[in-house]
Amino acid sequence: MNKTRKVLFSIITGACLVSLTACGSADSSKRQPTTQQEQTTETTTTVEAKEDKAAPEVTETNDSSTEAPESTENNTLVVYFSRTGNTEKIAEYLMDITNADSYVIDAAVPYTDEDIEYNNDSCRANQEQNDKTVRPEIANPIDSIDSYDTIFLGYPIWWGQEPRIIDTFLESYDFSEKTVVPFCTSGSSGIETSEKNIGELINIGNQLEGRRFPAGASKDEVKEWYDTLNLNK
Ligand SMILES: Cc1cc2nc3c(=O)[nH]c(=O)nc-3n(C[C@H](O)[C@H](O)[C@H](O)COP(=O)(O)O)c2cc1C
Repeated sequence: MNKTRKVLFSIITGACLVSLTACGSADSSKRQPTTQQEQTTETTTTVEAKEDKAAPEVTETNDSSTEAPESTENNTLVVYFSRTGNTEKIAEYLMDITNADSYVIDAAVPYTDEDIEYNNDSCRANQEQNDKTVRPEIANPIDSIDSYDTIFLGYPIWWGQEPRIIDTFLESYDFSEKTVVPFCTSGSSGIETSEKNIGELINIGNQLEGRRFPAGASKDEVKEWYDTLNLNK
């Protein structure tokens, strides 16, 4: 599909889906790549673990974005998985900054609150993170990422690593001629292990150094990082 048709397709598909997702969590429905026009009003729940085993801190945030994008015609795609909204917020800042299209990875079997209860050794997320071969199915796989040159890839850190569903995404497409820029949110852990995992898992044309953000990082912080990437030069 050429770029123009893809964007049109995204707008039509996204417009239908926004009405379905307006009240949902970050992992609540099937979504296809969307453009910035579809970013409207979103309510997110923010969960931050102070330490790996610490009790999560929950914050409700309401964000109403009224900024109109200048253009959606670019070669950048912001892909992210976010269960409790922290990574989604950073992704939204990135979309604003880059005017990029977006693709939200949703699990075919959504992660419930019990699934991510990390103090429970046998919760789904912990079991998946303990097994590097697990590939949770994606509910809404995109046909192709061919029309994008640069992929920002966002995720929460789960037990020091990328959630296994990120590996599902990475193994589903050809990144050998793409620039991939990881970013993550976490309570305190860094991005380094997940970056290494990603680099070892698949062949990436150009993997740029990623960045970890705390929950609640500002748009200015994201912009500052983005500028250091020199992607427009
Ligand atoms: C199963 C699970 C494991 C986690 N493991 C870590 C961890 O190893 N290190 C850390 O700093 N935070 C950890 N966290 C906290 C999340 O990384 C953090 O809350 C993140 O911002 C959530 O992103 P999201 O809101 O986009 O889902 C974990 C959270 C869950 C649910």
